[in-house]
Amino acid sequence: MTQTQTTAPGHVPTGLFIGGAWREGTGGGRIDVLNPATDEVVAEVADGTPDDAIAACDAAEAAQPGWAATPPRERAEILRACWETMIDHTDELAELIVREQGKPLADARGEIAYSAEFFRWNSEETVRIRGEIGRAPSGNNQIIVHHPPVGVVLMITPWNFPAAMITRKLAPALGAGNAVVIKPPKETPLTALRVVELMAEAGVPDGVINVVPTSTSGDWFDAAVDHRAVRMLSFTGSTEVGRVLLRRASDRVLKTVMELGGNAPFVVFDDADIDAAVEGAMVAKMRHSAETCTAANRFYVEAGVVDEFAEKFTAAMAAVKVGNGLDEGVGCGPMINKGAVEDIDGLVRGAVTEGASVLLGGEPLPGAGCFYPTTVLRDVSHDSSIARAEIFGPVAPIISFTDHDEMIRQANDTEMGLIGYVYTRDLAKGLRTSERIQAGMIGLNRGAVSDPAAPFGGMKQSGLGREGSTDGIYEFCETQYIAASW
Ligand code: SIN
Repeated sequence: MTQTQTTAPGHVPTGLFIGGAWREGTGGGRIDVLNPATDEVVAEVADGTPDDAIAACDAAEAAQPGWAATPPRERAEILRACWETMIDHTDELAELIVREQGKPLADARGEIAYSAEFFRWNSEETVRIRGEIGRAPSGNNQIIVHHPPVGVVLMITPWNFPAAMITRKLAPALGAGNAVVIKPPKETPLTALRVVELMAEAGVPDGVINVVPTSTSGDWFDAAVDHRAVRMLSFTGSTEVGRVLLRRASDRVLKTVMELGGNAPFVVFDDADIDAAVEGAMVAKMRHSAETCTAANRFYVEAGVVDEFAEKFTAAMAAVKVGNGLDEGVGCGPMINKGAVEDIDGLVRGAVTEGASVLLGGEPLPGAGCFYPTTVLRDVSHDSSIARAEIFGPVAPIISFTDHDEMIRQANDTEMGLIGYVYTRDLAKGLRTSERIQAGMIGLNRGAVSDPAAPFGGMKQSGLGREGSTDGIYEFCETQYIAASW
């Protein structure tokens, strides 16, 4: 059933935000934002054109020098006010996320706390951007190194974290003194628009943040990337799209930070605390309805404990209530759209054809909305297509292992290297295994690693650069060296 509603819930803006003002797109078009739990239209937002993307870059270019010249302490105080206002608006923002993205309300509230924390953390980093001074080895001069802002930054963000994937980029970019142009995903633009409205109220000057949703991403990007003021691209999304953007960004030799796909191995050794491993597996698989690039994608479980793990994990997955994220007790919301459900279904069918047995779930749920049940597969072969793909849904393939070296080889037999998980009571073995897994992040006896104070990012084709931590703000800076004599 489809019902049209032309205004967003509450007072959420639905225009483009350019130069501190709300406006319609020059093409006059609108994008329907759908609730994936009900198929209803939540709102229509302005559909930005390439001309709007250029106008946003012009506005950022005009605002950039003033913002870069603003004292770091003032920029930091504004970021701190952004943290406060997001926390104050937790209920409203979380509900908005559920309506346009579908995740359970508890996850959405968690996302707002996580998103806001990027502002607080980076407000603290903003006043601590360091340089260096040292005498040249020749003794003839001093070497001075400092870190000015990079310039106008393009940000392209995904639908799975409508708030956090924006603030993780925006907070350090603003802290470093850059102006930005954001293309939020067409599936979840409302959260982005409301967050920047709150940020403007918190004191971010006009033109420093510009937001232009669009239904024509390719044309939008082609126009923006060629704008003379754009100096950097920060992207979170699939490796496939990331490669295309990187090729295009290379025409202008842009600085890039790319957070791309994952295919996380989750390793359970036979000396692990199995109850703790199951608890960690539930977090690593199911947080945010399993639609995360950090989601555990392949469960390598040592043969001696595979029966116990499979039984307890299947029971825990079976206990998850799948439904509308606004409903009480729901632990897994809808997938983002029907296409996502079809993709997951295709992977599960393929795995079964390739010999996997279904312990739980395995068929899309009928009726309105985009629901797929929690699903556990056993006897999955490492070579099957499901172990090669990023599932992005509540499906857990279990692969039994006996030989440790062969398990590590299989865990690393992927072009992705975002994250891995290891469960063992033997800390030395856990650390040795962590070092051997080719991934930018490891959860050792932990099912969640994300933290604004830690470096988030991948090895291999999972990405370039890091977000969060002390490194995050320097990604949005240049390095200038001055050879000085006095
Ligand atoms: C992602 O899935 O893209 C991000 C996950 C996280 O920050 O935890």
